[in-house]
Amino acid sequence: MCGIIGYTGDKSAQQIIIESLHALEYRGYDSAGMSLFTSEGIRTLKTQGRVDELDKKAKEYDLNQSNCGIGHTRWATHGKPNETNAHPHGTQKLMIVHNGIIENYKELKKILIKKGCVFVSDTDTEVIAHLLDMNYTALNDKIKAITQTVKMLKGSYALSIIFRDEPNTVYGVKKDSPLLVGVGKGENFLASDISAFIAHTENYLRPEDGETVKITPYEVDVFNAQGKKTEKPLQKSANTAEDTDKCGFNHYMLKEIFEEPKVLLKTLDSLTCNFLPCFNNENDLTFFEDIGSIRIIACGTAMHSGLVGKFYIEKYARIPVTVEVASEFRYSDPILDEKDLVIIISQSGETADSLAALRLVNEMKLRTLSIVNTPGSTIARESEYVIHTPAGPEIAVASTKAFSVQTLVLMLLALRLSGQNNEFIKERIKSLYSTVTDSLHNVITDTAAIRSAAKILAKHRNLFFIGRGCDNYLGTEGSLKLKEISYIHSEAYAAGELKHGTISLIENGTPVIALVTDDAYSEKMRSNIEEVKSRGGYIISVCAESCNKIKDVSDINITVPEDDTFARPLTAAAVLQLLAYYTALELGRDIDKPRNLAKSVTVE
Ligand code: G6P
Repeated sequence: MCGIIGYTGDKSAQQIIIESLHALEYRGYDSAGMSLFTSEGIRTLKTQGRVDELDKKAKEYDLNQSNCGIGHTRWATHGKPNETNAHPHGTQKLMIVHNGIIENYKELKKILIKKGCVFVSDTDTEVIAHLLDMNYTALNDKIKAITQTVKMLKGSYALSIIFRDEPNTVYGVKKDSPLLVGVGKGENFLASDISAFIAHTENYLRPEDGETVKITPYEVDVFNAQGKKTEKPLQKSANTAEDTDKCGFNHYMLKEIFEEPKVLLKTLDSLTCNFLPCFNNENDLTFFEDIGSIRIIACGTAMHSGLVGKFYIEKYARIPVTVEVASEFRYSDPILDEKDLVIIISQSGETADSLAALRLVNEMKLRTLSIVNTPGSTIARESEYVIHTPAGPEIAVASTKAFSVQTLVLMLLALRLSGQNNEFIKERIKSLYSTVTDSLHNVITDTAAIRSAAKILAKHRNLFFIGRGCDNYLGTEGSLKLKEISYIHSEAYAAGELKHGTISLIENGTPVIALVTDDAYSEKMRSNIEEVKSRGGYIISVCAESCNKIKDVSDINITVPEDDTFARPLTAAAVLQLLAYYTALELGRDIDKPRNLAKSVTVE
């Protein structure tokens, strides 16, 4: 949802901004731009398309002597993704870059036009530039002008601002959109995310909503909403520059799938002791006591891990679980009870829909647990109890390792809540260790069957995933992954439900991916597969090695290892992720940056 960067220091601002925008490109990539201080004043460059286009354009100008500027990579919300609407936007006095949405921009625009402001773009952002210009003219004080301006805005924003009359200085302010201050030696940064400056400094500050930040090469000042200077603790990022390197892989997505054994092991090590679940706040034993029911709220892939979690929690802990799409939660006029536990799952910890749901639940004063991959993110900070998923930074837009880790956390939570005897739980956790340290490795390296299946899938425009029980839920994620990066239409169905209508779409050659990771379903799944086959469907099955009932009726079989059934979703998830990856590769898609998507969606 747009990446923003501000830089001031002794290096080439142009180079730093391009590097940083590359790191932030996962947030949006339909246009890019930057404004730099030069000896002739501020110079602004914009392009439609990727940051590479901006880089090419910047190289045509000799702007390398500039040491201060702001940059933006956009995921369009207001106005087409063209050069005019690309950020920065500005006036005679200032330039700004913005991530978020200004909900009252139309009203403000009308007022500003009446006052004589001339707009050149269709963006909501340009309204902020004109308002700030007017307030700065009236108040002649930048902090006061920024504070006054944001009071007039409704919606969400992270802004980076430069004023023409103050070279080497960048201002920032935020509400409900991420903004961090990277604190370096003789250089400072403002950015949407640590990855934008991690190659230069691991130290950062996290401004709160309404606080204004001013950075120069040697100073960082934070002002509260009343304009008073305030102290912020310096934090250190656990991420390294290597985390954001492709490390020889052609795509981040493949690299991130290959990281699954490592990050799943890290998760097991951090959330278990002596093969029993032990979460970080285990001293707060009351948190998990007396739960009536569980409400899982999330979006996209995170929501799908919630579905798998539902299966596990209901099966092992016998607690009823409902899973809800975060953007719909508030409209359901939620009926919640004081005994309920609400779980928010989010890779980024910044997804606006999930955050809005969390805030609604917080107003109801209910127990909230978030399962979040980004430490210090807004969702993590606003939840009562947090489990951090140690998946590390995920760069590819399509989520893979984060899904697997979220799923594992929910499996451990199911065991934690299960009340089963320790021996049973230890056996399950040992089986998870064995899958993660051993068989998962084979799945991701032995991909011949997956690649053959991908070749078939790439030739079709429609396909289906079917499964029962947990496989039904895994299918939803397999289907989403495939849609996201290959652009093939696919739907996931409960295997027994297909015959109630959707089977009419099966024609000669339609691929149907049948998931049978639990042998208990093999009889019924075989019947469902036969139903599809007799209508011409092409069956790609994903089942355990021994499951001949399914292999016999499959056109292609992808085997998952003969592990404990409890642990099989972890290997099956990797198969489905690789299937999507190789299908997209076959079609020559832009795998890490699929069309129309953004990784962190900070608008509702
Ligand atoms: C976006 C991404 C999805 C992701 C979803 C939820 O739509 O493209 O891949 O699953 O947001 O993101 P979160 O950060 O909350 O897990």
